[in-house]
Amino acid sequence: MKKIGVLTSGGDAPGMNAAIRAVVRKAIFHGIEPYAIYQGFSGLINGNIKKLALGSVGDIIQRGGTILRSARCEEFKTKEGQLKGVEQLKKFDIDGLVVIGGDGSYRGAKALTELGFPCVGVPATIDNDIPGTSHTIGFDTALNTVLSAIDNIRDTASSHERTFIIEVMGRGAGDIALFSGLAGGAETIVIPEADFDIADICDRLRKGQERGKKHSIIIVAEGVMSGTEFAAKLKNAINIEIRVSVLGHIQRGGTPTGFDRVLASRLGARAVELLMEDKGGRAVGIDQDVIVDNDILNILDQPHSFHEDIYTLSKELSI
Ligand code: F6P
Repeated sequence: MKKIGVLTSGGDAPGMNAAIRAVVRKAIFHGIEPYAIYQGFSGLINGNIKKLALGSVGDIIQRGGTILRSARCEEFKTKEGQLKGVEQLKKFDIDGLVVIGGDGSYRGAKALTELGFPCVGVPATIDNDIPGTSHTIGFDTALNTVLSAIDNIRDTASSHERTFIIEVMGRGAGDIALFSGLAGGAETIVIPEADFDIADICDRLRKGQERGKKHSIIIVAEGVMSGTEFAAKLKNAINIEIRVSVLGHIQRGGTPTGFDRVLASRLGARAVELLMEDKGGRAVGIDQDVIVDNDILNILDQPHSFHEDIYTLSKELSI
């Protein structure tokens, strides 16, 4: 392994820069030349590739986003696009590739692996929906961003005695809603992993009002429905004052937390080690604070783990 490429793809996540830094520095530490592939798989197809120096990743560990930029690339979903990517990697004499991203990025890394090119996946998405790791890079930061928003909204919700519906990101997975809902003391959490019953939610809201509760917070994961749609359902069933707040891409930016920086540094470095050990076709992750790796060819076949215990606990604590 003499030259390693690194790219970020899909939705950016705070901590991606710390992972890039780890890949680059770890490679250089071991005498390997690191190459940046800009704009994800689109940049790979177009040969937007440049050699990186030690200093090119200085002063980025604390920055959100990704200095390599990112893209969602339709062309790379085709065999033709993937072959163009391999061609570019060969043109630059790159021997192995670290792909930092979420679900779609893993599918790209899997395709390259199937074409015989050594790739290692590093899980980075605020959604925390990648199998084979308890945490993805960016989730902890997004969780804290959402929490700060919930705390702010709680102030105004309480002053005006209103019910707030807060729509958070998470298309197929409700971890952002679930964890922020528990940590933010939300009355109701609506996630794709669990059914909800409007009558039951209204009943809980009524009981809260009877006990003199001044406000209620309902967290809705976007994968279930929009906050506005959910508000319409609620308004049909109960006569209360409702406001909707959509947090949107605020959740994707910002300074990565200490947890995300440490995780990103460990995962990025391990990805390089795997390539050095000639173990392409792997996806790194963390399990009970131990860095692990799994086969990238079948990792996405496994279901994303649903924390039913946390969901149940949040219901018990928000009576
Ligand atoms: O994959 C991360 C994510 O932030 C999801 O939570 C969200 O649904 C999606 O990306 C939004 O993607 P885009 O920025 O392309 O609209």
